[in-house]
Amino acid sequence: MIFKQLFDADTSTLTYILADAVTREAVIIDPVRGQTKRDLAVLKELGATLKFIVETHVHADHITGAPELKAATNAQFSAGKATGLVCGDVMLDEGDTLTFGGEVLYSFATPGHTDGCTSYRWHDRIFTGDTILIGACGRTDFQQGSSEVLFDSIQKIMAYPDEFIIYPGHDYNDHRVSSVGQEKLTNPYIKGLDKAAFVEKMSNLKLPMPAKIGVAVPANVHCGDAEAAGIDTSKIAHST
Ligand SMILES: [Fe+2]
Repeated sequence: MIFKQLFDADTSTLTYILADAVTREAVIIDPVRGQTKRDLAVLKELGATLKFIVETHVHADHITGAPELKAATNAQFSAGKATGLVCGDVMLDEGDTLTFGGEVLYSFATPGHTDGCTSYRWHDRIFTGDTILIGACGRTDFQQGSSEVLFDSIQKIMAYPDEFIIYPGHDYNDHRVSSVGQEKLTNPYIKGLDKAAFVEKMSNLKLPMPAKIGVAVPANVHCGDAEAAGIDTSKIAHST
């Protein structure tokens, strides 16, 4: 197993590179526009060939780095079918898999933060996107968000064994890794909450809108192609 966790400080996004140790075929989960040089350098260092660019959902906080990575590597774009994206190459239904070398990435639907949210399991590691964050969970107040649906998706992840490792899509508090057991014990959005209490807690968050939502969502529904979304890319900070 070859595994790298990468962090974009501007958006607190965690990106993951997984590769087969023998064939060096690789997958990247949730790349960020502006970090393509970094991501390509890591792939080169690993001697890896990128086969799939995988998204956990249509992000509101950053534009995916998928177009730049795709242009550099010919990798295929993949996300959950429920995102409704028509620009993807491999759209995943519940239980669908992506194979890279002898490795398998299993997808499963975890809607609620958005209706297309998909989590991925690789061995005992679960990439939860924004469905479960360390000590938190994704918000549900835009992009088809539903606290009731998110509660059920969180339970779906919590049904895995306690020792399974959780790698979230973001972290804002210098955490990098958790486990199912740790989140059961310490996550205030999980511990001791039934569905009604969770929905009530989520309805009182009163969070500000993400700074980049106005460009991120339109670009990401075009698989990160900002030009196709009609966005003036000269006004996007941190772009390559
Ligand atoms: Fe998100």
